[in-house]
Amino acid sequence: GSFQAHLSEAETHYHEFVVRVLFIAIFLSFACGPTLEVRDGDSLVIKAVNNARYNVTLHWHGIRQLRNPWADGPDRVTQCPIQPGRSYTYRFTIENQEGTLWWHAHSRWLRATVYGALIIHPKLGSPYPFPMPRSEIPILLGEWWDRNPMDVLKLADFTGAAPNISDAYTINGQPGDLYRCSKQGTVRFPVGSGETILLRVINSALNQELFFGVANHRLTVVAVDAAYTKPFTTSVIMIAPGQTTDVLLTADQTPGHYYMAARAYNTANAPFDNTTTTAILEYKTAPPRNAKKGKQSTPIFPRLPGFNDTNSAIAFTSRLRSPSRVKVPLQIDESLFFAVGLGLINCTNPNSPRCQGPNGTRFAASMNNVSFVLPTRNSLMQAYYQGQPGVFTTDFPPVPPVKFDYTGNVSRGLWQPVKATKLYKLKFGARVQIVLQDTSIVSVEDHPMHLHGYHFAVIGAGFGNFNPRTDPAKFNLIDPPYRNTIGTPPGGWVAIRFEADNPGIWFMHCHLDSHLNWGLAMAFLVENGVGELQSVQPPPLDLPRC
Ligand code: C2O
Repeated sequence: GSFQAHLSEAETHYHEFVVRVLFIAIFLSFACGPTLEVRDGDSLVIKAVNNARYNVTLHWHGIRQLRNPWADGPDRVTQCPIQPGRSYTYRFTIENQEGTLWWHAHSRWLRATVYGALIIHPKLGSPYPFPMPRSEIPILLGEWWDRNPMDVLKLADFTGAAPNISDAYTINGQPGDLYRCSKQGTVRFPVGSGETILLRVINSALNQELFFGVANHRLTVVAVDAAYTKPFTTSVIMIAPGQTTDVLLTADQTPGHYYMAARAYNTANAPFDNTTTTAILEYKTAPPRNAKKGKQSTPIFPRLPGFNDTNSAIAFTSRLRSPSRVKVPLQIDESLFFAVGLGLINCTNPNSPRCQGPNGTRFAASMNNVSFVLPTRNSLMQAYYQGQPGVFTTDFPPVPPVKFDYTGNVSRGLWQPVKATKLYKLKFGARVQIVLQDTSIVSVEDHPMHLHGYHFAVIGAGFGNFNPRTDPAKFNLIDPPYRNTIGTPPGGWVAIRFEADNPGIWFMHCHLDSHLNWGLAMAFLVENGVGELQSVQPPPLDLPRC
């Protein structure tokens, strides 16, 4: 699908947008959605009109939505979907956040084509913590199928097998030069010699972590997930679906054409061919390209790590730091340990067309052996608010039901997760630590875990099994980076902390949509605290009903 938007901006501090989600039967048009540019402190009113033929919701990825889960958007978690022909107006205020975020559809696989950048500038008059760049460009890395992605998903749902891999990756909607049929559309970014520009890189791909770099140019990382970082330079970044990374680039090379490229990382299980998407950084003073036939200057290609180069990925992420000392909770009220990974569900008839997974099984995925099922009767948040019983339970296990060696071979009995809609209850203000441990069940893989309604400090990571006796001693409680999406290292663990200061129901899930579809998710129910300022606001009147 594709879609259009009509943006109208009233005043600096108040924005009204209308996003029309359209669905076009031909998928050959490459496009991504409009960039929304706002300031910290602004109130946004976004009317989403569903002109498509699927149910849809929109999610403002990384916006904290304090006391306001009604505007968060995940389908059947905080709202019932907007049906075709209907609309819903998302209203929310940006509170103490600045940097690069994005928005996307949060129903089934619709975010494959329905997504855009959400850029939050500092309050009027407050500067960036780095020299003002000459210009800023959103770089949206995407993924594209040569068919309706909803059909790709439907087929996988039916067969229980992995969905077809995508046919291309894209930069701002375009696959780039390396795909023969799309050369015409390659995105070009003009830059003046000596200028410094800010690239706001967003990984909006459905199922793929990516390496990203620009030939011959150094990148200075200044922010991730709308949180500033201590600046450092690198030639390549690793970015997982859901994450954003802001980098400064100075055009200090010989005037010419340079490829910027993104290539797949962590493709453990799938053979990828179409793994590199490109755009062109074009110096304004460069000799014209394609001047004479046969005398084209070929842009230089950046050196990117291989698809299985976990060391390069970790080398990058382990350099991230907050700019200065931050307030990480030092005491912990809730110490959670979540084993995340894939699983397989045995079929009674392995020869059934619905059991085309490995050895006649169906794919599944789980956290602590619970494979999350979205409710059908109501959204979690609406059921909770209305006190409707039977939609979910709050017995999500704080630790895995059985302990095992997460990095070794495991017995078949541990493959089969239990399907359920289980939430974990947190008291308002609880100080929470979660260790996310990758299991080696079915595959050893990076799982980019996203927590809605929060951002959290990433205090430690490592390979192998997390050791509760020795690993906490190495936690960074001084200047850890803040994120809303964090990769669980393949065959390893990552530890995060946050304070549960935002009441409501908040989804936590793998941002690889194939894994989300298999149930790699859970949700927190954060109870109200005392008084209005610690309680969920009443829902808007136009909130869609199931
Ligand atoms: Cu960016 Cu729940 O998603």
